[in-house]
Amino acid sequence: MILVVPKEILDREQRVAITPGNISTLQRLGYEVCIEADAGVQSAMPDQAYIDEGAVIINETKKIWSQADVVLKVNPPTMQEAGWIREGATLISFAYPARNEDLLKSLGQRKINWLAMDCVPRISRAQSMDALSSMANVAGYRAVVEASHAFGRFFTGQITAAGKVPPAKVLVIGAGVAGLAAIGAARNMGAMVRAFDTRPAVKEEVQSLGGEFLMLNFDEDGAGAGGYAKVMSKEFIEAEMKLFAEQAEEVDIIITTAMIPGKKSPVLLTGEMVRKMKPGSVIVDLAAEGGGNCELTEAGQKKVEYGVTILGYTDLPSRLPAQSSRLYGNNLVKLVSLLGEVKKFSINQKDEVIRGALVLDKGKVSWPPPKVEVSVQSAKPLETPVHKPVKEKKSFFSPGLMLGGLCILLLAMGWKGGNEFLDQLTVFVLSCFVGYMVVWNVTPSLHTPLMSVTNAISGIIVIGGMLFVSGSNPWIAGVAIFLATINVAGGFLVTHRMLKMFRKE
Ligand code: NAI
Repeated sequence: MILVVPKEILDREQRVAITPGNISTLQRLGYEVCIEADAGVQSAMPDQAYIDEGAVIINETKKIWSQADVVLKVNPPTMQEAGWIREGATLISFAYPARNEDLLKSLGQRKINWLAMDCVPRISRAQSMDALSSMANVAGYRAVVEASHAFGRFFTGQITAAGKVPPAKVLVIGAGVAGLAAIGAARNMGAMVRAFDTRPAVKEEVQSLGGEFLMLNFDEDGAGAGGYAKVMSKEFIEAEMKLFAEQAEEVDIIITTAMIPGKKSPVLLTGEMVRKMKPGSVIVDLAAEGGGNCELTEAGQKKVEYGVTILGYTDLPSRLPAQSSRLYGNNLVKLVSLLGEVKKFSINQKDEVIRGALVLDKGKVSWPPPKVEVSVQSAKPLETPVHKPVKEKKSFFSPGLMLGGLCILLLAMGWKGGNEFLDQLTVFVLSCFVGYMVVWNVTPSLHTPLMSVTNAISGIIVIGGMLFVSGSNPWIAGVAIFLATINVAGGFLVTHRMLKMFRKE
């Protein structure tokens, strides 16, 4: 079977559907891979790199379309390209079926199978094919790069001989895939980052990236059915807009990514809020294509209002073409692999990923697919907190109760045992208590540095235990050595396993 990759012809599109690194996988599946000349040039992938991996370069655009059994693309084809495709071929690309009715009709007449990368369900099994997330990740990062370019100041704070530079303050609205990527990038550049999302479940992810999660005193959770964000009540939107109005006066950069799939983007920043921002501030509206989160955004445009630069770019992934092509190519090849080897090629509609992505089945419109359970985030806690002040739950083992219990135990043992025994036991029990309190009150993200500290302390305990083992209470020293050794060995084991996660096979 011949698999072809035409050059993207949309204005300002710089991505290519696959990279030279993807070719060997496609060949293993049995495909003969043909690439249109210069298809990867704008992503820094010259024709020679594809030839070196065994692909054939074809110069004539029409020829490449007409000989294809499978076509891999980034954007939906233009009407002209749709006219060139061979009847009965399989096309895999972004499709946006809701707004491409004419294209569906035209490709339908040619009995095409069309798998849409934007319709791959967001389920855990399909994560490796989730091109929307890959592109949102790139877009979030690029949004920060665009913002810093337009901002004209450092992100990081500095104290120099020429004066003090305060760190830039960034607010990210919507902490989904793009939002989290933006938080990570802005933090890495040294900015102070705050974030807000209607789903308080993302609070920990924001914090683990070094951002501050803003909470609303409002009893409503944005997590809807299947994990997707839901449309919030009018009252909630009003409350969050009040929060944004206060923040707008304080922050330098606002990156908005708020959206609910299939709905118009909610307007969260009004013209009045923009007017109150400091001159030189920047808004990057990633939701521009869906109408924008800022009232003043113009899709695809850069404009300046009240001294604030508003960027409504809708081609952010294409502005980082080499990275986007690499990620998209990997997503695409994973989906092609799901169709099986060439000898057993089939569009198996019993597979929920293929069924979800299939918008044309031999020319018949098969979109929208039946509903499947989807999740916005890969890992979702079972119990999600809601936007309201969280009351601390009283644990049965409260510190006071534990300390009380220990005192009673010590008194009882002191009654029976000698002075030396009591001294050692007191130190042992108190160190257990202090150790428990220290470990349990440290945020999970700081457990790794904590582990190295506790390992050092355990080392001291082992040496102390060894010195005491020949004393009058050898069994206490033995217990100390035993427990400390478990900690040291366990620490090494956990560190080893964590390092293995980052090692390339
Ligand atoms: P996502 O669904 O992962 O994240 C959206 C987040 O917004 C969710 O966490 C949701 O809870 C939150 N949200 C929804 N309503 C909200 C509200 N009223 N207030 C606060 N948060 C709210 O989506 P993803 O993949 O991160 O994409 C974000 C946006 O970026 C989308 O609009 C997408 O179309 C756009 N995008 C733009 C690109 C560009 O070049 N401009 C490229 C790629 C994506």
